Amino acid sequence: MSTRSSFSPVTQILESGPASASPEERVTEEHFNNLHASSVTYRDLLIFEERLKLNMIRLKKRQQKYEAFLGSLVVVIAYCAFATFYQPSEHHSIIMFSALRQPLVRATAAKRLSRAFSAYSPNHNAVAPTSPKLEYLLTETRGRVAVVTLHRPKALNALCNGLFVELNQVLREFDDNKDIGAIVITGSERAFAAGADIKEMKDRGFIENYAEDFLGHWTQITKIRKPTIAAVNGFALGGGCELAMMCDIIYAGDKAVFGQPEIKLGTIPGAGGTQRLVRAIGKSKAMEMCLTGSVNLTAEEAERAGLVSRVYPADQVVDEAIKTAEKIGNLSLPIVQMVKDAINQSFEVPLSGGLTFERRLFHSTFASKDQKEGMAAFAEKRKANFTHN
Ligand code: CAA
Repeated sequence: MSTRSSFSPVTQILESGPASASPEERVTEEHFNNLHASSVTYRDLLIFEERLKLNMIRLKKRQQKYEAFLGSLVVVIAYCAFATFYQPSEHHSIIMFSALRQPLVRATAAKRLSRAFSAYSPNHNAVAPTSPKLEYLLTETRGRVAVVTLHRPKALNALCNGLFVELNQVLREFDDNKDIGAIVITGSERAFAAGADIKEMKDRGFIENYAEDFLGHWTQITKIRKPTIAAVNGFALGGGCELAMMCDIIYAGDKAVFGQPEIKLGTIPGAGGTQRLVRAIGKSKAMEMCLTGSVNLTAEEAERAGLVSRVYPADQVVDEAIKTAEKIGNLSLPIVQMVKDAINQSFEVPLSGGLTFERRLFHSTFASKDQKEGMAAFAEKRKANFTHN
């Protein structure tokens, strides 16, 4: 059955999807027909919507480029014709270049549009809300892994209060969900998060901040007992870098940028930048980043410095994070949580206290069924079947 006539404007857009779009991104009529024919889930519709938007933005961009080119061409031809009959003066040349300005501005606008869209694209294309009420997040589950995507594209995922309230809420939900073993937090291709929302906080006062313990609720992420992995693409600045550092593991896309630019705003990092960064990359680098606000770490530098565990091509980082989360999620959850607890203790207590804490937890693992299963499986040369008990 052809849907061509009933959806002709859409079909046009779909068909004219640029050749530069990857086969994954390109929306074809087949996609559309499949959607029409098969049982459509909410997730399918979201994926479809994302792809449609991508194609529309690309078309618009292309149209603007053509307009800019044609505009310039008309002006140049008119000027050449004019110059054939008259000797052009400086004044005339200025008029010509003024006329060329508008198309050039349009070409720049096309560039801005495309950049805006890359902020829109989430890092991965399977999304479905846990709760339809979420405004700033997309969430999905894959087996025992939950993926939370920060989704405030127009503001480069700036961390406004509402976003953090939602983030805390969904993380708590996933932490309480016995079917989830690990959580991946990610953003868009362009930004993991460009920091706390500057526009929202710029008029706040000291007393208000102090009385309400402004940003205090950000630390709730560190109370999540299941492992969290940040999959970072694009900007991870200020609060964005701090959010990544609150996660247990950071994977970075090769274009990721980590920085603490707060000093340029007349303030300082307020969610762990001066503390966690020092522990991750050492005093000198942390001082340099926080004191200048403009020395950022590329993904490679961040890996070398120990801030991130691994760097992947930007389009693979989320999948790699999910793979790692799957591995962790299939291990014994209580034992995984003990490892997380023990490592986190190392930031809080002196070595002797940390070692004692670790040994007590080690002893206690022998009270679990999963320790019995894990060691028996090794002895019997088979794969362990953990029951999270
Ligand atoms: N808060 C609010 N809005 C932000 C934002 C932020 N942190 N970062 C970006 N945006 C908004 C911009 O205002 C802009 O919105 P409009 O289109 O409405 O103007 C939109 O996102 C796109 O940003 P740009 O046009 O600036 O994009 P760009 O590519 O030219 O620059 C950038 C990108 C370098 C990340 C730049 O946006 C930037 O410098 N952002 C601020 C980064 C920053 O200072 N972060 C620290 C915040 S303070 C903090 O985080 C405190 C803490 O420790 C908790």
